[in-house]
Amino acid sequence: MKALAKERLIFALDVDSFAEAEKWVRQLHRQVGLFKVGKQLFTRCGPQVVEMVRREGGSVFLDLKYHDIPNTVAMATVEACRLGVRMVNVHALGGREMMTRTVAEVDRVAPRGHAERPLLLAVTILTSSTEATLQEIGIDRSVREMVPRLAKMAQEAGMDGVVASPQEVDLIRAACGPDFAIVTPGVRPGFASLDDQKRVTTPGEAITAGADYLVIGRPISAAADPVAAAELILDEMSAALQAR
Ligand code: C5P
Repeated sequence: MKALAKERLIFALDVDSFAEAEKWVRQLHRQVGLFKVGKQLFTRCGPQVVEMVRREGGSVFLDLKYHDIPNTVAMATVEACRLGVRMVNVHALGGREMMTRTVAEVDRVAPRGHAERPLLLAVTILTSSTEATLQEIGIDRSVREMVPRLAKMAQEAGMDGVVASPQEVDLIRAACGPDFAIVTPGVRPGFASLDDQKRVTTPGEAITAGADYLVIGRPISAAADPVAAAELILDEMSAALQAR
């Protein structure tokens, strides 16, 4: 079960240099299956950071949240496939055609079942957005209405899953069923501080609620012993996976 938990634990590489990223991957690759490379690190270091993670034995979640015209997003996602990432994401707000086109282009270079086929994920509504944020841009619907609606649209477009708050897992499961991947940040084990996260769940609660992958950063990176913190998280995830 612990090996299974490792494949579901994603460490957020929220650092600004190649050397720092490499230090974390070397330290954690026995506990952590995937490393999330976001806009800051990728803008700074580029594809070589993806190559480094893979060389060190990890897999990559390329968290660049593409949102553009369908052709541009589809072609950028194809390039992510060529880098050999395991997960890549787009904004569902980019629309159905953008996602459908992306899935079609990825199907061409890495069909389903192909070893290099990444999980194609959609972001529904950013958890930093509130009802007021949505109203301001002309969306008169609640976050809890928009999240399952966009998740369902992503699924219909052929996407493999979504990134979502642990609080939204039940809504998404109800809309999309059991075979749609849910990746959740905002996870805090009992031993860690909340940092700037407000609505959090523990790793065990998130898995029990139906999350498939957990993104965890500071509870590991800010721990006195990061490897021990990751081990504790794996234990908690394993226990919840076993009970599921
Ligand atoms: O350090 P922490 O565990 O809070 O890191 C969580 C990671 O997940 C960060 O990279 C953060 O940007 C990302 N994230 C998040 N909440 C979201 C979406 C992404 O915390 N709703």
